Amino acid sequence: MDDHGATNLLDDRWDAQAAADLDEAGLLLYRSNLLGADKRITNYGGGNTSAKVSEQDPLTGAAVEVLWVKGSGGDVGTMKRDGFATLYMDKLQALKGLYRGPDHEDEMVGYLPHCTFNLNPRAASIDTPLHAYVPYPHVDHMHPDAAIAIAATANSRELTREVWGEEIGWLPWRRPGFELGLWLERFVAENPNAKGVLLASHGLFTWGATSRDCYRQTLESINKAIAWLAERTAGKAIFGGARLDQQPAADRRATAARLMPGHRGLVGVDEPKIGHFDDSAPVLEFVDAQDMETLAALGTSCPDHFLRTKIRPMVVEADASPDALRDRIGDYRAAYAGYYDRCRHPDSPALRDPNPVVYLVPGVGMITFAKDKPTARIAGEFYVNAINVMRGAATVDSYVGLSEQEAFNIEYWLLEEAKLRRMPKPRPLTGKVALVTGGGGGIGSAIAERLLQEGACVVLADIDAAALDAVGAALSGQHGKDQVRTVTMDVTDEAAVQRSFQDALVAYGGLDIVVSNAGISSAAPVEDTDLSLWQRNVDILATGYFLVAREAFRTMKAQGLGGSIVFIASKNALAASPNASAYCTAKAAEVHLARCLALEGAGSGIRVNVINPDAVLQGSKIWQGEWREQRAAAYNLAPDQLEEHYRQRSLLKRSVLPADVAEAAYFLASDMSAKSTGNIINVDAGNAQSFTR
Ligand SMILES: NC(=O)c1ccc[n+]([C@@H]2O[C@H](COP(=O)([O-])OP(=O)(O)OC[C@H]3O[C@@H](n4cnc5c(N)ncnc54)[C@H](O)[C@@H]3O)[C@@H](O)[C@H]2O)c1
Ligand SMILES: [Zn+2]
Repeated sequence: MDDHGATNLLDDRWDAQAAADLDEAGLLLYRSNLLGADKRITNYGGGNTSAKVSEQDPLTGAAVEVLWVKGSGGDVGTMKRDGFATLYMDKLQALKGLYRGPDHEDEMVGYLPHCTFNLNPRAASIDTPLHAYVPYPHVDHMHPDAAIAIAATANSRELTREVWGEEIGWLPWRRPGFELGLWLERFVAENPNAKGVLLASHGLFTWGATSRDCYRQTLESINKAIAWLAERTAGKAIFGGARLDQQPAADRRATAARLMPGHRGLVGVDEPKIGHFDDSAPVLEFVDAQDMETLAALGTSCPDHFLRTKIRPMVVEADASPDALRDRIGDYRAAYAGYYDRCRHPDSPALRDPNPVVYLVPGVGMITFAKDKPTARIAGEFYVNAINVMRGAATVDSYVGLSEQEAFNIEYWLLEEAKLRRMPKPRPLTGKVALVTGGGGGIGSAIAERLLQEGACVVLADIDAAALDAVGAALSGQHGKDQVRTVTMDVTDEAAVQRSFQDALVAYGGLDIVVSNAGISSAAPVEDTDLSLWQRNVDILATGYFLVAREAFRTMKAQGLGGSIVFIASKNALAASPNASAYCTAKAAEVHLARCLALEGAGSGIRVNVINPDAVLQGSKIWQGEWREQRAAAYNLAPDQLEEHYRQRSLLKRSVLPADVAEAAYFLASDMSAKSTGNIINVDAGNAQSFTR
């Protein structure tokens, strides 16, 4: 971790062949994606790029100059062509005539839509004037850690000259907006030879005559900062040197799994939260260091950070008791409310969630909590950017965060508030975490899919690694990598069950829903049922459900947010069936276990309910093998006649599908069934023998 040496310079990845046939906008997109692909160049969603392009006016046919600039939202690394806003340059220039001065700069945002070229629906961002008024055809604005490290030092102006000479100028901190656009214009007029400018506490601007030149200039400027920092930090104690010895990775994960549900319970009362854990080398170097607490208290500096990470993280010791944790979080909230009260303006938006987002745990790593997994993960990534910045700044000079008032003005900016209000409403299970056993199977994967559709994060656990991989890949393809985790686990193995819960907790910070669904089928007359067959049924279906539910209880109680446990039993739990005594008896045990647990869990808000499916042939692996042949033989049918046979046997004369069972599981997992526990839902197309009583 300590060699930010010459080997870490950015490579020029421009491929002349790939760029050969691109038009100006295509080149801009190509350059943007190249830049955003490397987190050392800019953080996720941070920075923007632009090109001033000659286009044909759709009404007059005349050639007009159009600014293509990354629009509001999105990320330069992954954006597509439609991520750019397009605006008439002459209209943007005309806005200067309407400008009433810095106190009124926010109103200029309202004029930007009037400058739209070609009815482009992509909204122009607050940063648009920063590109429009720089009189060069191509402009990059990036948030490179190495440059921000210099921008966040007490002597950033002097250091900027030391690193870049006359090539890159320096401007003091100013919130992005119309006024900063005019500052940049003036800077270029006064420094015609400059290739860019560093904005204190913010980031880097670079420009060029072509996309190729601009890209090269951006890389060169960042590389100068990287090389200079490497030289200046070499041999120096980073963050005051290490304070703690490194713990083994397994211990760090175990501590995270123990701490995270407690955190989640405290910060997830009003709005459920998802956690993210990071114990990568840069994080450990920081959290284990002498100066960590002092630096963390100074807050982050880049304006992107405040909305994501809050102004500063919370530091919590690994051995903090639940009471100590509660007090720490209480203190953090009070301090945050104090910051809000000190800094608020008469028209500021109301106080937002005062809970910490970033938790630094010495010896263990960094935990982040946010409304969903991508937000929690990205908050962690942003804090890693902040660590990188502090690493450079504090080693070569002294690190300065942005003033509290400036941070507040960004965090509670009315324009940001408007953006937050435009965000789509969360889905019913957004912020919830589910673990589904037998998740590689027919019914389990359908349940996982249903919960994912409603916004849950899902951990699939199964003994069958190949099935798990296939289902995991399909579901993360559809619902995003952040939402899905897989873990191989045998429900009959006590240690394996505990390990898989630990994995789920480290992955998402807690658990709200556990669907116990792993299962097998077997058939034999009782006199031919050998002990091992009997035992196998009891182990997987009864003991396995006990082990999973016990771990669920432990986690849910530590978390203190209640929870829902759903058992996928069987019609045969209630209805006796010939030649399947081991299976039927074990399934009956599941149902009674669920009732006992419903009784025990109620005081903690843990609900336990059962679904009894019957004859779910489609998708089920149980029905692919010899079980199908045996059943067909028992009824004197060919295997492919079996589905029709079961359909006719049901009262409703319908086939039961995995999706039908999944719908019931979603109902029992969600707050729709908040008043139900100890229940059984039959999903069997009607069967009088299994009517509940
Ligand atoms: N399909 C039906 O007709 C039907 C009817 C009633 C009840 N059920 C029950 O529904 C549940 C799901 O069955 P399905 O039809 O989806 O079958 P399936 O075989 O497609 O899925 C079951 C999954 O459980 C996994 N599993 C088996 N033993 C395990 C163990 N020891 N540890 C962890 N995972 C294990 C399997 O690998 C498989 O992926 C089972 O409990 C089954 O008894 C199914
Ligand atoms: Zn910026």
